[in-house]
Amino acid sequence: MNFGSVKAIVFDAYGTLFDVHSVIEACHEAFPNKGDKISQIWRQKQLEYSFLRSLMGRYRPFVEVTRDALRFACKELRLTLDSGKEARLMKAYLELKPYDEVHDVLPQLTGKTLAIFTNGSHNMIDPLIEKYKFTEFLNEVISADHVKQYKPAPASYTYVLDRIPVKREEVLFLSSNTWDISGTANFGFHTAWVNRSGGTMDELGFQPDAVIDDLTELPKLV
Ligand code: LAC
Repeated sequence: MNFGSVKAIVFDAYGTLFDVHSVIEACHEAFPNKGDKISQIWRQKQLEYSFLRSLMGRYRPFVEVTRDALRFACKELRLTLDSGKEARLMKAYLELKPYDEVHDVLPQLTGKTLAIFTNGSHNMIDPLIEKYKFTEFLNEVISADHVKQYKPAPASYTYVLDRIPVKREEVLFLSSNTWDISGTANFGFHTAWVNRSGGTMDELGFQPDAVIDDLTELPKLV
């Protein structure tokens, strides 16, 4: 599918631009040989807590949800997470590695409004954007924290249109997270699933408009 009429390209952050599992090294340092397991439970619970807090009407900023998910992961694995280790692992989340192709692809997306839309609170996402100098390529960095509604709530995607004055059908949203692709398609943006891990699309009644292995395929689509 070609997205030539698209005026804005919006990226999910965690898992799409940044590798959430790049915390594994810091996790191994804190808890030798437990890094992979900690990272897996940490990410799973981070997302689960964002969904559950949305359903309960108990929104808290993503940095707190991320911290709580880390605490759960360590408790689940019977690991003692002291304040020093918690601080070091939370700091690792502010230094997640971008995927290799991101820096090369963003400058190629000329003539389009480029944005990030993330559940991440600004105190999490801004340090990443600055550390890897993505600022120069991005017109907007949008956090769901502005509306206190996590993706995939329609109200969260509505806020993107408050920040980028285009029509829904003029937006292409990219995410590696199938729940985010379904939420975005439900809202009415065009979607490209960045299927980095060869995963399976959710059974939620939506299919992505495009499936790409990584962002290197994006410039020829737009
Ligand atoms: C993000 C993660 C939750 O919103 O996918 O960046």
